[in-house]
Amino acid sequence: QEETAADTPPMGFNNWNATGCGEDFNEEMIMGMADLFVEKGLKEAGYEYINLDDCWAEYDRDADGKLVVDAERFPSGFEALADYIHDRGLKFGVYTSAGTRTCSGEMPGSLGHEAGDAQQFADWGVDYLKYDNCNNQGVPAEERYGAMGEALEATGRDIVYSICEWGDNEPWTGWAAEVGGDLWRTTFDISDTYASMLSIFKENVELAEYAGPGGWNDPDMLQIGNGGMTDTEYRSHFSLWAMMAAPLLIGTDLRDATDATYEILGNDEVIAVDQDRLGQQAAVVSSEDGRWVLKKQLADGSYAVALFNETGAAQRIATSADEVGLPHRGSYALRDLWEHETATTTGTIAATVPAHGTVVYRVSTRPSPAAPAAVEVGGTDLG
Ligand code: DGJ
Repeated sequence: QEETAADTPPMGFNNWNATGCGEDFNEEMIMGMADLFVEKGLKEAGYEYINLDDCWAEYDRDADGKLVVDAERFPSGFEALADYIHDRGLKFGVYTSAGTRTCSGEMPGSLGHEAGDAQQFADWGVDYLKYDNCNNQGVPAEERYGAMGEALEATGRDIVYSICEWGDNEPWTGWAAEVGGDLWRTTFDISDTYASMLSIFKENVELAEYAGPGGWNDPDMLQIGNGGMTDTEYRSHFSLWAMMAAPLLIGTDLRDATDATYEILGNDEVIAVDQDRLGQQAAVVSSEDGRWVLKKQLADGSYAVALFNETGAAQRIATSADEVGLPHRGSYALRDLWEHETATTTGTIAATVPAHGTVVYRVSTRPSPAAPAAVEVGGTDLG
């Protein structure tokens, strides 16, 4: 299979969860995110796309039928913005809807304008398109998303195609991949609450068999840093999204982000689980009374195992190397991806997990070249 831009789940930023169509959504903000990606090491951690959501264009098209960039929000224009982003080694994304208008109603959609809009995006140097589902006039999804898929293809530019159809017509069953989609939303919108994050997790986790390199389930963008959840809950959000090989699109204004937010978003050991090139979405090992055990096989033969406590009180959550599917050995290395410590176990994989918390281990047979590289933490000897 040909190497595509979405061989691993896309990582980047999208303004929607932070700003909606508010005034803060402007070029100063977007350029600020590009700067912070570089300065704060997020680019190095793998974050790449700087994506604009709804409300970047004027209400009407111009006389030639082209979309017009909102000059109040983006006075420098999109060529300059794309250059700014590209000059920092990052990629540029835009948004529109597979309908007559976008969801805000404030800008035109691309239904019936697919070829022209796709070409305009390509001319601007766009690398990623999020294509929404509002005002679709009842035209079948496959047709609408197919038309844009073809139009993007025809530009000859490599543009990641994000199908934002909210799971309405079960995009994971095949049609979204067939029209060239690299990822497809599986649910309605996430909001910045534990309840919302949890319900989306529960829907998306069932769809593991449909995700893989080049075609990812998209349980929506991250809310980490927006204030509606505790840092423990945000660590769960990040852990679960990584286990599910979800796109990691930061949805907070990084200019005001706390150290804890940067630490969560920048956890390179959890990111490595998300970005693992095997591209598996985690399977559920067990989920008794809100004590979730998830496993995700990784390319080096190790497994990521997440112990997620859905409940409001601390819980002991346990599984075993056998249950997870590791080969039989006398002992295993257990790398805690939040504590950044390694221990050994003869087979039990367990932890007391705080309310709404998640412990993520990377479990590997030992001694083995597949064990986490050169970790010497707290005197643990990996042999
Ligand atoms: C609905 C989508 O699901 C959201 O992610 C966001 O793009 C809004 N529309 C924008 O109006």
